[in-house]
Amino acid sequence: MKILVTGKGGQLGSELLALIPQSLSNAETVGVGTADWDLSQPEQGASFLSAFSPDVVLHCGAYTAVDKAESEPDIALRVNAESTAAIADWCKSQGKKLIYFSTDYVFDGTGTEPYREDHVTAPLGVYGRTKLAGEQAVLAASAENLVLRISWVYATRGKNFLLTMRRLAAGEGPIRVVNDQRGRPSYTRPIAEAVLECVKQEASGLYHLAPQGETTWFGFAKRIFELDPACTGAMERLVPITTAEFPTPAKRPAYSVLDGSKIQNDLGIVLPHWEDSLAEALKSL
Ligand SMILES: NC(=O)c1ccc[n+]([C@@H]2O[C@H](COP(=O)([O-])OP(=O)(O)OC[C@H]3O[C@@H](n4cnc5c(N)ncnc54)[C@H](OP(=O)(O)O)[C@@H]3O)[C@@H](O)[C@H]2O)c1
Repeated sequence: MKILVTGKGGQLGSELLALIPQSLSNAETVGVGTADWDLSQPEQGASFLSAFSPDVVLHCGAYTAVDKAESEPDIALRVNAESTAAIADWCKSQGKKLIYFSTDYVFDGTGTEPYREDHVTAPLGVYGRTKLAGEQAVLAASAENLVLRISWVYATRGKNFLLTMRRLAAGEGPIRVVNDQRGRPSYTRPIAEAVLECVKQEASGLYHLAPQGETTWFGFAKRIFELDPACTGAMERLVPITTAEFPTPAKRPAYSVLDGSKIQNDLGIVLPHWEDSLAEALKSL
């Protein structure tokens, strides 16, 4: 099986590329980054894909700068929606499978209980709108394709909340963290394991993939500081704030909890509790 992973240097792409050799011994993989194919050039997709001719595309490459997207909507659209549509078209024409990663930011955050897959979408910003357009293109192209919505992703590398908190812990002064947005912090390792299980089971359709438990960004920071010996003393500097006290160019959903019961019932996939995965991530730092 030939697997192409876009976003090879990103959090999830690099995790998948590290895990595939251990998990899918018959797989031949290639990772793709901006230098190989700039996703803001969707028209280059078909010739690029034909050169490797993958059986499965794990499409992790995305314009993920949520705030910057507000001032670069055209680029975000090309990367997240138009290039995704180009990959979906190529996969459809060749009878190949596409797995796309979408986001909790397709919701407006007004929910009060975990979002199921059929909950009405209403993105608050450019990032969410372009990711939603991407998932719609993937699902419209073929019933064999798979869309996994994930949320609050972090890894032991890259740009993410965990590493930002560790950096701030090493500094001085108050660490002000939003305490009125709720979600499910998701470590890339169990996500990647679940993705490869989906490949093995030839899963298709739309699924939410999220760990057990939920918290706020403040709660996430608190648990990092409790568990990580490198953050000793940071807890006293941690200050809960409201979203209104931390204005950003892009609005974010207040309630972002994804319900993972469909993937559990259909495929038997359950992610561990977010606190257990955090402890695992900290061990591998
Ligand atoms: N991070 C989250 O909290 C989160 C939450 C929900 C869903 N997701 C989705 O999950 C997937 C993986 O996210 P992630 O956290 O791994 O993202 P990430 O760490 O930001 O990585 C994104 C990757 O996309 C690549 N990329 C960006 N612009 C590109 C372009 N113009 N051409 C080619 N490649 C480009 C980047 O390549 P370079 O390194 O070369 O720039 C990078 O490798 C994405 O689809 C994202 O939308 C993420």
